[in-house]
Parts: sequence; C-alpha cells; structure tokens
Amino acid sequence: MSYPYQITTYEAYQQAYKQSVEQPEQFWAAIAENFQWRKKWDEVLNWNFKEPKIEWFKGGKLNITENCLDRHLPTLGDEPAIIWEPNDPSEHHRILTYNQLHEKVCAFAQVLKNNGVKKGDRVCIYMGMIPELAIAILSCARIGAIHSVIFGGFSAQSISDRIIDAHAEYVITCDGAFRGGKDIPLKSVIDDALVSCEFVKRVIVFSRTRIAVSMIKGRDVWWEDEMKKIDAVGITDIKAAEMDAEDPLFILYTSGSTGKPKGVVHSSAGYMLFTNYSFVNVFQYKPGQLFFCTADIGWITGHSYIVYGPLSAGATSLMFEGVPTWPDAGRFWSIIDKFKVNILYTAPTAIRSLMGFGLQPLKGKDLSSLQILGTVGEPINEEAWHWYDENIGKKKCPIVDTWWQTETGGILISNLAGVTPAKPAHATLPLPGVQPVLVDENGKILEGNNVSGNLCIKFPWPSILRTTYGDHDRCRQNYFATYENMYFTGDGALRDENGFYRITGRVDDVLNVSGHRIGTAEVENAINMHDGVVESAVVGYPHDVKGQGIYAYVIYNSMHENEELTRKDIAMTVARIIGPIAKPDKIQFVSGLPKTRSGKIMRRILRKIAEGETQNLGDTSTLLDPGVVDEIKNAKL
Ligand code: WTA
Repeated sequence: MSYPYQITTYEAYQQAYKQSVEQPEQFWAAIAENFQWRKKWDEVLNWNFKEPKIEWFKGGKLNITENCLDRHLPTLGDEPAIIWEPNDPSEHHRILTYNQLHEKVCAFAQVLKNNGVKKGDRVCIYMGMIPELAIAILSCARIGAIHSVIFGGFSAQSISDRIIDAHAEYVITCDGAFRGGKDIPLKSVIDDALVSCEFVKRVIVFSRTRIAVSMIKGRDVWWEDEMKKIDAVGITDIKAAEMDAEDPLFILYTSGSTGKPKGVVHSSAGYMLFTNYSFVNVFQYKPGQLFFCTADIGWITGHSYIVYGPLSAGATSLMFEGVPTWPDAGRFWSIIDKFKVNILYTAPTAIRSLMGFGLQPLKGKDLSSLQILGTVGEPINEEAWHWYDENIGKKKCPIVDTWWQTETGGILISNLAGVTPAKPAHATLPLPGVQPVLVDENGKILEGNNVSGNLCIKFPWPSILRTTYGDHDRCRQNYFATYENMYFTGDGALRDENGFYRITGRVDDVLNVSGHRIGTAEVENAINMHDGVVESAVVGYPHDVKGQGIYAYVIYNSMHENEELTRKDIAMTVARIIGPIAKPDKIQFVSGLPKTRSGKIMRRILRKIAEGETQNLGDTSTLLDPGVVDEIKNAKL
C-alpha cells in the first residue's frame, strides 16, 4: 500500500493547504482517485450551509468495506489487520489477518441477511471491545445497514432512547464484557432497554463472558450458532452492497447543550476519504507499522481511528479490551512492549491518570518501538504533554495534538507528526481542506493572529456530519444557525502569534469528563427525576485527572436524615437514567439557585463558585435574590 497523498515536508503541507482552499474540488477529486469505486462520481461537491445540504462525490458508487478489506487482499491478505489484546493479560491475544477479517465479515454479513437485516436498516451495537465489535460494524457496512454503536457505559434507559430514535429493529450485543476487574452484564442491560422497544425483531448475542443470560424465544439468537450455519454452507465471500457516496454509513449519538443526545449521521464516501487522509497524514503512517488507538469503539475516535481510517489504509490496528490501570498501571506500557507498538494515540485523561502512578509502572518496559504519539478528546495541559514527551516518547517521538469532534468525523486541526511544528497544548494548524475561523459573539470574523473567539469552519470537508437522524432542522439549529454560513463547533480557541490554534474548551453547556461528552441539561434532567429533587443546576469544574468534573447544585424538598446517602441515591438515579459516566462528582444541597428576574439560572456564577472563585463573581445585582449566592459560596464543597 502506498499513499501518494501523504505529505512529508512542511513545504508540501503549505502547498497542499493552499490548493485545498483555492481548488477544493480538484484537490479532493485527486485523493478520491486512490480508492476503489464501482462507479465514479458525477459531481465532487454540492453544498450550502443554510439548510444545510452537503454532498460529496454524488453519484459515485462504492462500498467502504471493499476499500477496507477486499482491495488489500492481493497484497496484504496475510498481514494482520487487527491485533487484539484481551482484558486479562493471561488470556491469549488474537490476530486477524486481512484475509481472516474479510472472511469473518462476509460470514457475519450473511448472518445479518439471514436474520432479516436489509440495506438502510438501523442496527444497534452494544458490545465490549472485542474483534467481533469491529466485525459487526463492518458487516453492517457490507450490506448497507446503518450501524449505531452505543458505548458500554450507557444505561438501559439511554440505550432504549437511542434505539427508539433510530427505530433500530436489530441489536447486536454480548452476554457480558470484561473491563478491568469488572464483568459488565451487557445482555441484561439490553434486556432492560428492550422492555420499551417491542419493535426490535432480533438480538444477536456473542458469548464473551458466558454469564447466565435470558434468551427470548423468537427474538434472541447466539452469534456462534448463526455463524455455524454459515460455515455449514461454506460462504466465504458475499458481494458488498453498492452504496451511493452519500448513503449514510452510521449514526453515532452525542451530547449537545440542550435536550437528548442527537444522532450524528455520517456518509460513506466522504467519511472514508477523510478518515483515511487524516490517518495517513497526521500519524505519518508507514506500511507495516503497528497503530494503537486506546479509545473505545463506542466513541467516534474508535470508529475513525481503530476501524475505518487504519483499515482503509491497510494498516495494522491494535485493539485493547481492558483499561490502562488493570491489573496495574503499567498495562499500556506492557502492551507496547509486547507487540512493539509504533504509534500510540490516547487521551489526556489517561495520561494524567497514569502520571499519578509515577514512573514505577514503566520499569522494565521497553518502549523503544514507539515513533509517534498522539492525544485526542480534550485540551492537554502542558504538564501532561511534557510527561508524555519525556517518559513515554523519550523526547524522540513527535506528539500530535488532534482536535476534532463526533460531528467532524476525522481530525481537523493537528500538527502532522514530525512534518509540521508541534507546540505543547496547541492543536496547531488545520489539515488541508479545513478552513477554520474565529468569530466574536456577533459572528464577526476575527482576522490576524493573537486573537481568541469561537471556533467555526467556513467550508465543508468530506467527513462533515450530514444531518442529525430524523430531525434535520435540529442539525441546522445546532451547528449552522448560530453564525451565518459557518459550521459552529461549540469550542473556544485562540490563534497565537504564529497562527497556531489552541483549543480552550467548550463555550456551550457541554462538559468533557474524562474525554466523554456530557450535556449539563442531560445531567440536570436525570437529577430532577430523583424523588425529592425540586431543581438542579449542573456545571463543570477543573478536575486533575478527568479534565472536568461534574458539580451539581441541588434543591431538595425535605430535610434528609443522611445527606451522604441522599447524594448516593441521586448519583444512582443519574447512573440509571444516563449511565455511570454521568454521575456527579460533587452534589451540594442549596436552598435556592441564583436566578435572574426572568427566571434564568446564572450558570456563570455557579461555575465560578465550583471553580473555587469567591471574590470576582461578576455582577450579581440583577439577581432575584442575591443573598443565595453567599449561602452557596459559604457551603461550597
Ligand atoms: C474536545 C472527540 C482540545 C472539544 C474526538 C470538542 C479537544 C470535543 C481536542 C469533541 C483537542 C477534542 N484539544 N479539545 N485535541 N479534541 N476536544 O465529539 O471540546 O467526543 O468539541 O469527539 O472534545 O468531543 P467528541
């Protein structure tokens, strides 16, 4: 596999960038030539951000799995596509070559067909980090079904909300999942979720932990039994469905500042092109290297940089079932040593958490295979950046700080490893094809350097979201209505004296807790479901390991005998409604919330108090009851 579009010098980057802005259609059409099409496109790009309507390579026909699998078989068939490391280090790892992965995907695609799944159907996938998760995803793509993967940390309620929203009649899950010292009963959570989803026709269950599960007659089948039926007839290849470039590939739910999570929809061709292009350029991937992205496939990072980006590039992707701190805090380093990982892509929260264990877990671990390091998901603080650089990269590995979002499909702002300059805590420069702008609150574009504002993108790139499932106007309102003719990211950023971007964090009511996106409104709604809660307000506060912690101010309607127990009850309610990842770190009981005379909660004040600020709380004179601020301040946790 060669990558003629791989940028290897700073000058080449500048040239590519210039061309991508001046002649975007020619630029992307030339890259698209490197993929396998059943039929070439009629038109490269058709767009307006008003509706929004964005079409890349319209009329082109392809199947993403032919690009991720079939086309590699003649040259890379016996090379590893996925190397899988289990949760328990004493269990044997697995290697799936491109040939084997292709065969399994074809077989499982046939299983899906046999179970009634058709092109365009939505399939909910709720599994642990095992190769079968990648197989399930690719099998959906093979037959043109739209996958909707749900992270294992979400509750039954969250799952059923998503299944109902997408009207997914098919579910793929596991009996359970191993994560660190825990066995998570996935099938049992699915069973709870499906109580309110009677329209679900089939649940396919892969056996991983083999805990007891209920299998409902006529609805639930075992993955292994279904695969045996395929083996019996000996299917090794099924023809991939022919998809239009703009046919949806998947839905991934993500939190915004209001309401319930929305289903971000990605297309086939544009998403494939950009995840591949960004993978090859940001990480400077060279054939034969081993790429280890530590994200969970339940999030966009896993979709784009464990599955589609690496596999479309014929790379070897390492997939890890467990957690960085189990059985001890040296687990990542053992894995790197064991498989001789070349590129490590992880989250700042993981780095900060491992930093806390000191250097002992690194003892005896050979990390000399590492060549490139990356981070994603949240701003990285300088201390963590330097620790990563000195102790993991041994000051020899370029670090890429990659900024992007579920909605962007792939990395938009990042240095290219070793090719363009790095600067600690800065994502630096946009990838070719990406045109960022900073605007003030009125939408005025801020020109020049040394400015900060709200980050927008003024031109479409191939993997921009196309819609939010079932509600196109929500997509428009959320991303394209704040500023005219621009995609609004929800992030604040500054552009330094060299034109490098530093992402400063969300400017809306979205929290980033351990790299997980959670809306404050979602958490408030969940807290308010708890009996006895009158009202609540949720804000983020700086947290040493998680980046942001969740701070909840709660008005409770009766005196509680045991405050601590009530806090636990509330946290349990949140875990039930959303999932354990959204549990508040701190719950402060208050008698009132600072509100304006029109009844709006002044979150700015609550945020400052949660951050530990006591003096400069800003103007409180417009508050209905300014006294409440002192009460809250004095009782701060
Ligand atoms: C944040 C994850 C600073 C940002 C890929 C964004 C970052 C949100 C970075 C998207 C980075 C992601 N530096 N902040 N390198 N990368 N973010 O949708 O606030 O889970 O809007 O996608 O994470 O989170 P999401």
